[in-house]
Amino acid sequence: LNYRVPRTRKEIFETLVKGLQRLEYRGYDSAGIAVDGPKKTTHDLNNNSICLIKKKGKVKALDEEIYQKDLVDLDESLHTHFGLAHTRWATHGEPSALNSHPHRSDKNNEFVVIHNGIITNYKELKKYLITKGYEFESDTDTEVIPKLIKYLYDNRENDSVTFSTLVERVIQQLEGAFALVFKSRHYPGEAVSTRRGSPLLIGVRSEHELLTEHIPVQYKSGHQKEEVHENSHNRTDSSNAINSNGDGKPVEYYFASDASAIIEHTNKVLYMEDDDVAVVKGGELSIHRVNRQAGDDPVRAIQTLQMELQQIMKGNFEAFMQKEIFEQPESVVNTMRGRICFDTNTVILGGLKDHLKEIKRCRRLIVIGCGTSFHAAVATRQILEELTELPVMVELASDFLDRNTPVFRDDVCFFISQSGETADTLMALRYCKERGALTVGITNTVGSSICRETDCGVHINAGPEIGVASTKAYTSQFVSLIMFGLMMSEDRLSLQKRRTDIINALKVLPELIKQVLAVDEKIKEIADELHHQKSLLVMGRGYNYATCLEGALKIKEITYMHSEGILAGELKHGPLALIDKHMPVIMIIMRDGCYTKCQNALEQVTARSGRPIILCCQDDSEVIKNAYKTIELPQTVDCLQGILSVIPLQLLSFHLAVLRGYDVDCPRNLAKSVTVE
Ligand code: G6P
Repeated sequence: LNYRVPRTRKEIFETLVKGLQRLEYRGYDSAGIAVDGPKKTTHDLNNNSICLIKKKGKVKALDEEIYQKDLVDLDESLHTHFGLAHTRWATHGEPSALNSHPHRSDKNNEFVVIHNGIITNYKELKKYLITKGYEFESDTDTEVIPKLIKYLYDNRENDSVTFSTLVERVIQQLEGAFALVFKSRHYPGEAVSTRRGSPLLIGVRSEHELLTEHIPVQYKSGHQKEEVHENSHNRTDSSNAINSNGDGKPVEYYFASDASAIIEHTNKVLYMEDDDVAVVKGGELSIHRVNRQAGDDPVRAIQTLQMELQQIMKGNFEAFMQKEIFEQPESVVNTMRGRICFDTNTVILGGLKDHLKEIKRCRRLIVIGCGTSFHAAVATRQILEELTELPVMVELASDFLDRNTPVFRDDVCFFISQSGETADTLMALRYCKERGALTVGITNTVGSSICRETDCGVHINAGPEIGVASTKAYTSQFVSLIMFGLMMSEDRLSLQKRRTDIINALKVLPELIKQVLAVDEKIKEIADELHHQKSLLVMGRGYNYATCLEGALKIKEITYMHSEGILAGELKHGPLALIDKHMPVIMIIMRDGCYTKCQNALEQVTARSGRPIILCCQDDSEVIKNAYKTIELPQTVDCLQGILSVIPLQLLSFHLAVLRGYDVDCPRNLAKSVTVE
C-alpha cells in the first residue's frame, strides 16, 4: 500500500506480480490479483470499484492476462493504493480461475479476501450463509470468508462499524488455520489482516528510518474490545501506530506469508502473532489483539532481515535445485561457522547451550519431521544414540500425531523443518509442548512458526532453499544434528577418540563434497540410460539407509518415476521378488560396519541377474567387479558418509527430471512449504 507517492496502476501490478513470482517456489496451481479501479469490460463505474483478475496455471499466465487483454487502465496514477495478490495450491476444489484467490463477497466485489490455510468448519458456515441467500461460486473453503463479512456488513448495527471490527467478528466464527488479508470497496485504501496458525508478516518501507522499532499492541477482550477499538481509530494521536506520514514521508506496507515476496522492497519486517489484527488506514499501521492471552507480548518488534535478493536468484544454473546441490560445499560451512572449534575439539550451539543440562537429564530424545527433514532424523539416529547414550525415537509428524504418542515432561522433542512452517510438524510441536516436553527447533527459516514456538533451537543457516525438492537443507540438517551429538558428548571420556574423528572429518567435509560434485558428468550418463525406465530401487543399510529413502524421495518428487528406498536387510523379506535383469537397482555399499552384509545383498541381487549401479568407496575393487556400473565416492567417517552418498542421488534425480522434460523446481502436485495438515 503506498501513500502520497503517485504510482501508476501498471507499477502496482508489477509489484504484486513480482511478489507472487517470488513465492511460486512454494507450490501453486493458480493465481489472482485485486486492484482498485473498474475493469474496462464492466459498466461498474463506482469510484471505489475493485478489479479482480484470476487465472489457472503459473503466475506468468496471470501476468499475460493483465497485459494482453487490456482489462484495466494501466496508466492511471494513484496516490493511495491497496492491492492483493495470491498464488493458490489447491486443498478444497480443483485448480481453476474460479477457485483461485482473491475470493469475493458478491458480483460487485464489495469485499475481497486472500487466504492461506484451511477453514475446517466451512461447510456449516456455507450452509448457514446459503440459507441467508448468499450465492457461492467456487468449491473452496475460503469463499465463506468474504460471504460472511458481507453478511455481517449487511446486518451491521450502524454505519460507523469499522472494517477491523467486521474482520474480528468474522474470525470469531472461523475454525482451522488462516492468514487473511481483506480489501473492501466500502473501506477504500484500508487494509485489514489477521492470522491464526498460518504465517503472516508485514514489511514496512519508509523513506526515513522508522520512528520506532516496536509496534505496541492494543489488547481488547469481550464486548469491551469493540469500544476500545473504535476509540483507538478515532484518536488523533497515534502513539500506538507506525505513522510516518504525519510529516509527509511516504510509507508502503507489504503483507506477505514469506519474506522473499517483499525483500526487494524492504528488509524491515514484523511478524504477526496468532489473533493479531493489523490495520493500515490513512497510511498508518496499528495492531491489536482479538483475544488477550496471559504472557502475550505487548509489542511486535521490527526486525531487519539479512536475506539478500541475489541469494534467492538462480545464477547460472538451469534450476534452483541444481544451484542448491552445488552450493553444498558452502552451505555446510555456513552451518558449522562459529560453532565448531577445530583446535579444541569443541562444539557450541548457542541456541541450545542454556538447555544442555536439562537435555542431558532427559528420558529420551524424539526427533520429528516430514519428508526430507524426517530423513535427516533417520540419517543421524544411530550416531545420536551413540554420542548421547540416550534412546532416540524418530517420527514422521503425521504418524506421531495419529498415534497419540505418549510424551512426558522429561522428554526432549526435536522438530526438524526447513521451512519451519510445515503444519504437521507444527501440530506435533504444539502437542509435545502441551505435555510439558522441552521443544527444540532445527529450521532454516528465521522467524518461522517453529522457530518462534520452540523453547530453543538451531538455525541451520543453509540460505534460502527455493527448489521444492530439498537438497542443501538436508545436508545442513544432518550436520546440525551431528553437531548436537558432539556437544552432548564433550565430557564423555570414552567417546573422545570418536569425537575427534568426526570433528576432523567435518573439517574436510566441504572439500569432499566438492569431489563428489565432480562426478556430475558420469551421473548424467547414467541418467541418460535410465530416464525411460518406470521404476528405480535404491538399496542400502545402516548409516546409508536414510540415503536410500532420501534418494528415492528425490526421484519420486521431481521425475515422477516410481522409486523405493529399500533397507538391504529386508531384501529377502520381499523386495528380492522385484529383482531381474530389467529392474534398475542402485546399491549403496560403503566401507563401514555394514560392509560385509551389503556385499551379501549384492550377491543376492547379482544371483537373480540384477544389474546394480553401485555407490561405493573409491577403488573398492571387491565391489566394483560385481557392479554393472559404479559411482565412486571419497570415504569419510561412517556417520558422515550419508552426506556424501546422498549427493549423487540428488544429481541423478535432477538429470532424470530434465531428460524427462519436467519442471525441476516446481514438481506437479507438490508444495515447498505445506502449511496444511
Ligand atoms: C514438503 C516438501 C518436502 C519437504 C517437506 C517437509 O512436502 O515438498 O520437500 O521435505 O515438505 O518440509 P519442511 O519445511 O518441514 O522441512
